[in-house]
Amino acid sequence: MPAMISETFLSIQTFAPIIKAGELAEGHSKTFSFTKDGAKTEGFVIRFQGEFFAYINRCPHTAQPLDEDRDGMFNADHSHLYCDEHAALFNPRTGVCVSGPCPIGPLTKLPIAVQDGIIYLVA
Ligand code: FES
Repeated sequence: MPAMISETFLSIQTFAPIIKAGELAEGHSKTFSFTKDGAKTEGFVIRFQGEFFAYINRCPHTAQPLDEDRDGMFNADHSHLYCDEHAALFNPRTGVCVSGPCPIGPLTKLPIAVQDGIIYLVA
């Protein structure tokens, strides 16, 4: 009887460096570009209350970049992510809209990892 051959499918992840964690100050953001489904896409990473989060830079209201007319993703007191176009505010941890033209969908979160002091986009 022939031996059973089992197939193992491995998921190989790639890690693309975005920025050194120490270069991203509390309440600040850094934009970066990557390819998603063959299209150039802009994302941003933030440092909020000591943790890092990343999102696609596209407001779920009308698909505009959040920072179209300014530098940075946070509102003035750095408590929320802010979209210039219609003043939507988003929870920095979850991307959920908490003020403005809600209900709209949340920001699209991107998977990241921090290793050896570098923040990576995980794909
Ligand atoms: S486009 Fe962002 S709130 Fe309308």
